[in-house]
Amino acid sequence: MGRTAREVIKANVDEVISDLLKTYADEWLAHYQYWAAAQWIRGIDADTLRPILLKQSMDELKHAEKAARRIIQLGGKIVLDFDRLLKTSGCGYIPPPEDPTDHRKLIEDVLKAERCAIKFYSQMVEKYRQTDIVTHELFEELLEDEVDDEEEWENILAKL
Ligand SMILES: [Fe+2]
Ligand SMILES: [Fe+2]
Repeated sequence: MGRTAREVIKANVDEVISDLLKTYADEWLAHYQYWAAAQWIRGIDADTLRPILLKQSMDELKHAEKAARRIIQLGGKIVLDFDRLLKTSGCGYIPPPEDPTDHRKLIEDVLKAERCAIKFYSQMVEKYRQTDIVTHELFEELLEDEVDDEEEWENILAKL
């Protein structure tokens, strides 16, 4: 990051990196949760739900990439060790249900991840509004996507 870019950040850069690392881990774990669910799912609605899970899984991976880019821009280091992903995460990881036909549980768990992200990103949008505009905008983008995701799953759940 260049001199002026560094000067315009009024936030504590270590704290920004730490919030972005949490985001990076959460997004990566959501990516894996949805992707694994898409492989594992069976039963009557599986063919409908699988492509939605795969699409959102890829969206979460793109979110992780955005977080990674900003972490590195700020001079930080992404989570290189797989073991540390879970420890770094704020929302944790929910494995897909043991029963691959339990679509209700699967979707409720996806909604838990989405709602946790929405709460965290809302806080982050506020936190960095005045102190780090680039990070603020990154969180706004992510928040907007997760809000759409939540709505999509709520609609699907209502029709099950
Ligand atoms: Fe995401
Ligand atoms: Fe999402």
